[in-house]
Amino acid sequence: MRRGSLRRRHRRRRGKPRLQRAPSEQDREQRYAGQPQFATRSHAHKLGAMIIRNTPHRWGVIAQLLHWTIVVLVIVQFTLAALAEDLPPLKKLGMLARHKSVGITILALAILRLAWRWLNPTPALPETLKPYQRVLARWTHALLYLLLFAQPLSGWMMSSARGFPVSWFGFFQLPDLVPKNQALYQALLTTHGTLALLLGAVVTLHAAAALAHHFMFKDDVLRRMLPFTTPTQGTER
Ligand code: HEM
Ligand code: HEM
Repeated sequence: MRRGSLRRRHRRRRGKPRLQRAPSEQDREQRYAGQPQFATRSHAHKLGAMIIRNTPHRWGVIAQLLHWTIVVLVIVQFTLAALAEDLPPLKKLGMLARHKSVGITILALAILRLAWRWLNPTPALPETLKPYQRVLARWTHALLYLLLFAQPLSGWMMSSARGFPVSWFGFFQLPDLVPKNQALYQALLTTHGTLALLLGAVVTLHAAAALAHHFMFKDDVLRRMLPFTTPTQGTER
């Protein structure tokens, strides 16, 4: 005899009520009719991690993808620059060519990211934050965006000033931003290094704040930037 039918018989003999019919999609739709963004509550949970666009309470998949891809690429950039430092001249040029291509990719993603931000609602900061914390968060984010543009642009201008063309992984060459000029190259070299230090410092502050939100303030700020999470606050609960 098959296992399933034995189990069913056993349940009936012990007088256990039979399992009720699973609620149909229609039942669930009626039950959660007041919830505007999703057909059902279970949908809301399943889709919690898969919303394409931002909502006033959560970053969507595109914003998350852009955020974390840029994070990874910035780490790659610092690594490539550090690796290039001790290499012999020819290998150094090869490593820096990769550094330049990744840097241009960051610039393109930063443009996409800002465009996507303008087309979407921005999740509001938690009400519990003090006014100075709000100001700090806004200024840090603005500074991060500024650096995501200034850092690659200074690198691109530096390469042009040195007379080295910038190509994107060998697929195509970008135009020179400034004419060849040794004094300008030196100034941009210092600028690029200083901006990198500033970026490192601001990112450290920013990451520490994100972790503090999660572990100390115990709010949704980090969770809503992570994929496959369901916010514990906001309307999508
Ligand atoms: C977010 C993007 C970028 C980051 C975080 C970054 C970071 C860095 C860092 C940390 C260094 C080492 C600086 C030092 O040793 O003082 C460096 C060097 C360099 N970067 Fe970038 N960079 C970025 C984008 C670019 C771009 C787009 C280009 C050019 C198109 C570029 C070209 C260079 C070059 C040529 C050097 C070597 C300078 C030298 O030692 O002669 N960088 N970068
Ligand atoms: C290269 C490193 C990073 C850069 C350039 C960066 C950049 C940014 C920017 C510009 C925003 C503002 C988004 C907006 O308002 O449109 C942001 C948001 C955020 N970042 Fe980062 N980030 C970096 C690393 C990190 C790390 C390591 C963490 C976590 C430990 C993190 C967690 C967050 C969170 C949770 C938000 C959302 C804040 C909110 O909802 O108001 N970021 N990031």
